[in-house]
Amino acid sequence: MGKSWAPSSNRNTGEVSRVEAPVTLRGYLLCAFAAFGGILFGYDSGYISGVLAMNYFKMQFGSPNSTDDNAYNGYIYATWQKSLITSILSCGTFFGALFAGSLADWIGRRSTIIAGCGVFSVGVALQVASTSVGLLVPGRLIAGIGVGFVSAIIILYMSEVAPKAVRGAIVSGYQFSITIGLLLASCVDQGTHGRMDSGSYRIPMSIQWVWALILGTGLFLLPESPRYWVKEDRYDKAAYALSVLRGQPVDSQYIKDELAELVANYRYEMENMQSSWLDCFRGGWAPSGNLRRVCLGMAMQMMQQWTGVNFIFYYGTTFFQQVGMKNSFTISIITTVVNVASTPISFWTVEKLGRRTLLIYGAIGMLVCEFIIAIVGTVDPGSQAANLCLIVFTCFYIFFFASTWGPTAWVVIGEIFPLPIRAKGVALSTASNWLWNFVIGEITPYMVDSDQGDLKCKVFFVWGTTCTLCVFFAYFFVPETKGLSLEQVDRMLEETTPRTSSMWIPHDTFADQTTRDDVEKMTNKMGADNLEVGTTHTTQA
Ligand code: BGC
Repeated sequence: MGKSWAPSSNRNTGEVSRVEAPVTLRGYLLCAFAAFGGILFGYDSGYISGVLAMNYFKMQFGSPNSTDDNAYNGYIYATWQKSLITSILSCGTFFGALFAGSLADWIGRRSTIIAGCGVFSVGVALQVASTSVGLLVPGRLIAGIGVGFVSAIIILYMSEVAPKAVRGAIVSGYQFSITIGLLLASCVDQGTHGRMDSGSYRIPMSIQWVWALILGTGLFLLPESPRYWVKEDRYDKAAYALSVLRGQPVDSQYIKDELAELVANYRYEMENMQSSWLDCFRGGWAPSGNLRRVCLGMAMQMMQQWTGVNFIFYYGTTFFQQVGMKNSFTISIITTVVNVASTPISFWTVEKLGRRTLLIYGAIGMLVCEFIIAIVGTVDPGSQAANLCLIVFTCFYIFFFASTWGPTAWVVIGEIFPLPIRAKGVALSTASNWLWNFVIGEITPYMVDSDQGDLKCKVFFVWGTTCTLCVFFAYFFVPETKGLSLEQVDRMLEETTPRTSSMWIPHDTFADQTTRDDVEKMTNKMGADNLEVGTTHTTQA
C-alpha cells in the first residue's frame, strides 16, 4: 500500500485534503439532482391517507356498511382493505430495495434508478386506471417495487458521486425532498378532496408520474457512478464520469489522484472479500467487518423508525382528534411544514458537527419532548395545558427529527460499506427502513385505538423509551464519517472504534505507484484523444 503523500486534511476544522477537486456549483448541482428521488418516496407514502378519507373514493372503492361512523352515504372499505391499501406499498418497497441491491451491481446505479422510475410508472398507471381495490392493490405493490429501487439506489448513487466535503449535505438533500414530497401530497389531497368525481383520487395519483418523469429523464443527463465503473474495471469510463462530476479535464491531476485512490482501494478490498449477498454477512464483529457494518446500517434505519416519527405522519390527524383537539387537520399540516423547514439546518450541521453528534443530541432532544408530552398528558389529560403542550412539543420533536435523525440515518448508510458490497449493504439497510416502517404502521393503531390499548398521550412513553435506546445506539455503535472519502472511511473503521472515530485523521493513501502509473497512462491517453470535459484547470493547485 502506497504512502506517497500524506493528505493534510483536518476534518474537524473542515479543511479538505488535496485528493479531490474543489467543489464547483455545477458539480454540486449535478450531485444534488438525484435528491429529487426523495419526492417519490415522500409523496407516495403521504398521498394515500388523504385519498382514503375522500368521500368519492369511499363510494367508489368501499362497500355498503351503514354502521361505520366514517362511512359516506353508507359506503366504506373494510379495515383489512384499508390497511392492505396502505401497507402494500411498504411490502413492494422492501422487496424492490433488496432486488435493486443486485441490479445496481449488474446494470449500474444510474440505470437501476431509471428502471425504478419505469416500474413505478407502470404501478401508477394501474392505480389511476383502478376503480376497485382489486386493481389498486397490485398498482400500489408495483409502484412500491419502483420506490424500493429508487430509495435504496439514490442513496448509493449520491454517496458515490458526491465530493466528500459536501457528501453529508447532498445526501441530506434527499431527506429534504422526502419532506417536500410529504407536504406536496397533503396539499394535493387537500385541493382535490372536495371533488365528487374520479378526479378527486386520480389527480393525486397521476401527479406521481411527474416526479418519475423528471427523475428518470434528468438522470439520463448525469454520468454513471465512477465507483461502479471501477468495480467493472472500466477505468476509462470512471475517469470520464469523475471529470464530468468534478468539472475537471480527464487528464488533470485531481482526476488522476481521485481515480488512483478508488482503484487502489477497490483492489485492496477485493483481496479480502467478494461481492455476493453472503459476503455481506462475513467478517465477524470487528468494526470493519462486513457483518458489523450491515448490522449497523440495518439497525440505523430500524432505530430511525423507532424514533416514532411516523406515528405523527401516519396517525397524527386521528390521534389529535382522539385526544379531543378540534383543529387536528391543521395541526398535521403544521407538523409537515415544521418537518420541511427544519431539514435544511442539517445541510450545514451534518458537515460541521458531524453525524455522531447530530444522532446523539437529536435523540436526546426527541426523548425530552416525548417524555414531556407523555407526563403532562397523563397528569392532566384533555386539559388546555396538556393540549398546548402536545402541539408545541410535537413541533419541537419533529424539529429534532428533521434536523438530525431524518437526514443523518440516510447519510450514514451511504458511507459505511466497502465498495464490493456497498450496493447490497445500502439495499439491506433501506429494506430495514421499510420493514420497520411497515411494522410500526401496523402495530401503532393497536396501542392507541380506543377499543384497543387506548394509550392516548401515554404512547409517548413508548417513543420516549425507544428514543433513549437511540441515544445509546448512536453513542456506542455509530462511527464519525464526516469529511472522509468513502475509501478513508474504510481505513478509519479498521483503525478505530465508534467512540474514537471522530479523532481519526487520514494519514496515508491506498494508491501505490503501480496504480498511479496505470491511471496516469490511461488518463493521459484520454486527454490526448480530446475526451476531456469540464473547465480549463489542468493542474492541481
Ligand atoms: C423516514 C420516513 C419518514 C420521513 C419523514 C424519512 O427519513 O425514513 O419514514 O416518514 O423521514 O420526513
